[in-house]
Amino acid sequence: MKISVIGAGNVGATCADVCAEKELANEVVLLDIKENFAEGKALDIWEKSPVNYYDTRITGSTNDYTKTADSDVVVITSGIPRRPGMSRDDLIKTNAGIVKSVTTQVVEHSPNAKIIVVSNPLDVMTYAAYLSAKKPSTEVFGMAGILDTARYRSFLSLELNVSPKDIQAVLMGGHGDTMVPLPRYTTVSGIPVTELISASKLEQIVQRTKKGGGEIVNLLGTSAWYAPGASAAQMVEAIVRDQKRIFPCCAWLEGQYGLSDMYLGVPVKLGKNGIEEIIELQLNEAEKELLKQSANAVKSTLNILDELDY
Ligand code: NAI
Ligand code: 2OP
Repeated sequence: MKISVIGAGNVGATCADVCAEKELANEVVLLDIKENFAEGKALDIWEKSPVNYYDTRITGSTNDYTKTADSDVVVITSGIPRRPGMSRDDLIKTNAGIVKSVTTQVVEHSPNAKIIVVSNPLDVMTYAAYLSAKKPSTEVFGMAGILDTARYRSFLSLELNVSPKDIQAVLMGGHGDTMVPLPRYTTVSGIPVTELISASKLEQIVQRTKKGGGEIVNLLGTSAWYAPGASAAQMVEAIVRDQKRIFPCCAWLEGQYGLSDMYLGVPVKLGKNGIEEIIELQLNEAEKELLKQSANAVKSTLNILDELDY
């Protein structure tokens, strides 16, 4: 097995590190456009191998895609953050250009790779990768739901004073303020969370989850990487080990939930073929309405890409 991670910044390097530590492949390649940056990060991770005891060979490359050839899974984290004076549309345009160039080169050298997009704005960048990859949508998808659900579960764990391992949850929608955590589908070892926590406390946690990315930005002055990198690696693991895990992922919809021709966060089954199934929950009217609002917000960003004639 071979995994490549494009973008050796905070999220990409963390993802590559987790993939190496978990020995998800024989080989992990980290690639960045910045001279020697990926080589340096990869060497540092490799030098940790005798200490933390793994033998996945990790190497770095400055923009040489031949080094990524024949990857089974590729994670795309390359992009730039929004800069002063830059509109949201400008950011979409710039990052879509980066994702387009990266995806084209990835597919040229690894035509069979499953592609996991992490770059933001997530839903639209996943769409951008799909348009460039010219591969089935089941092989091009995005990471956000695992991270957003992890935040929700970690906050619940603190509130209930129980292990985060025992909290199961699902969350849908776009990666932004309109995401839809689903308390009705949240349990603590099978016990409905609504039996363990007041409605008002639960609502506070839902609201904190929706702003979870911003909470870290406010603390650090930049966005998160430990949880995002590990979340992307969990998707890699599900694919390379053919685990058939059920995760919320950003997936292409063709009629599911009454939505078509768009990427959105939904529960899926993830295995060696990529997205092997989209799971349709029996949402109630209130949940459907929240999902519709989130889908509309995402659709407007996807339209920006369509208008750019991408
Ligand atoms: P970062 O700035 O630390 O790393 C980005 C890297 O991409 C840089 O090293 C840069 O040199 C590289 N890069 C830029 N253009 C490139 C190109 N054409 N080819 C190869 N490499 C290129 O950023 P960080 O913190 O690692 O975040 C990466 C992306 O992930 C951002 O877009 C961020 O918003 C997004 N993100 C998404 C999350 C999600 O849940 N989907 C969660 C956290 C971050
Ligand atoms: C996050 O949720 C900013 O998407 C990034 O941390």
